[in-house]
Amino acid sequence: MTSYLLRLECSHCRRPHDPGTRQTVCQGCGSALRSVYDLERLRLDHPSPPWHERPPGLWRYEELLPLDHPSEAVRLGETESPILPLTPPEARPSLTVLMKDDGVLPTGSFKARGMALAVSRARALGLRSLYVPSAGNAGVALSAYGVRAGLRVHVYLPDSTPASVGRRCEEFGADVTAVPGTIADAGRVARAREPSESFDVSTLREPYRWQGKKTMGLELFDQFRRERLPSAILYPTGGGTGLVGLWSAFEELRSLGWLSDPLPRLIAVQPEQCAPVVRALERRAEEVTPWPEPRTVAPGLRVPSPFSSRAILGAIRASGGGGVTVSDDEILRAQADLRRHQGISVCPEGAATWAALPRLLERGQLRPDETVLLYNTGSGLLYGE
Ligand SMILES: Cc1ncc(COP(=O)(O)O)c(C=O)c1O
Ligand SMILES: [Zn+2]
Repeated sequence: MTSYLLRLECSHCRRPHDPGTRQTVCQGCGSALRSVYDLERLRLDHPSPPWHERPPGLWRYEELLPLDHPSEAVRLGETESPILPLTPPEARPSLTVLMKDDGVLPTGSFKARGMALAVSRARALGLRSLYVPSAGNAGVALSAYGVRAGLRVHVYLPDSTPASVGRRCEEFGADVTAVPGTIADAGRVARAREPSESFDVSTLREPYRWQGKKTMGLELFDQFRRERLPSAILYPTGGGTGLVGLWSAFEELRSLGWLSDPLPRLIAVQPEQCAPVVRALERRAEEVTPWPEPRTVAPGLRVPSPFSSRAILGAIRASGGGGVTVSDDEILRAQADLRRHQGISVCPEGAATWAALPRLLERGQLRPDETVLLYNTGSGLLYGE
């Protein structure tokens, strides 16, 4: 056994749960379950990271992943995603801007990381049928990994999702249902309709997508192994798993003594007309208040009420980070700008991070001499056809 997983534990009340059986959320308080590893033993066994000789990509972090054995992994060629230097915005030549581009991952987005882990564990636990409410990318990723693992998949999409996304899921053999409203409505309909043996793989309602997202942080650590990590990471925030994933990677690496302070500040970027996380940060709230009429050109950020928002807000605050909003016009301009001037085709969600730079500098949330990493969560091609 290569994993150092000890147990699942509630991220709020800390009640333990058995990872050897099907688990969803905490049976006591309904919060998300985090994976707890035997970091003490891992640290004794390996004074430094043991993975450098292994092939790049998310499976190399097997000690910090929840699989009982590497042969459990459902694979589609998960490679290490590149970090591309960007020319900084005009008049800010001293800023170092980097972009981590998860658009190269299987099915074109970072959702591959979480779904690879969720589907691998689901198959190992003997589940046969999975479903997910999705803004698009998660549905496509689940469809591909699900069919690869021989499992039935049903994807529930808000009816505003471009038709190309539903077709892509169907091409992978998934059933697709369009639901009027937002991803929250799609989730409600899915949970009401699906039979009890079908398993809900929604963001943070399933424990292992979080672990897959954690590989974003492990991979960054790996890629910056000879240098200091960037001082800030701008992350397009919808359901928030990415942020909690990044932060748990940094915390585990710090506990292992492999990474020392200062850790990067996590900055949530949200659209002006759907910014529940940024608003909760401004109000110093412990949880988000659902956003009444969410609207944005970035489908993955149209999440009015992220589940387990305490964990998201906790990660941002623990990092010393913050939040910022951008308008839809700014997102679209940023997307065109990245294509035309830097040769990179990013999804609107990823473009939001580029759009956020001027505002963060103006407000002093970023200093003009920092190294900042923009997280591009997906390729620009998915919504294009
Ligand atoms: C391309 C893209 N970026 C960002 C997000 C939001 O990610 P998270 O749930 O980690 O906040 C999504 C979610 O659907 C997405 O599809
Ligand atoms: Zn609990």
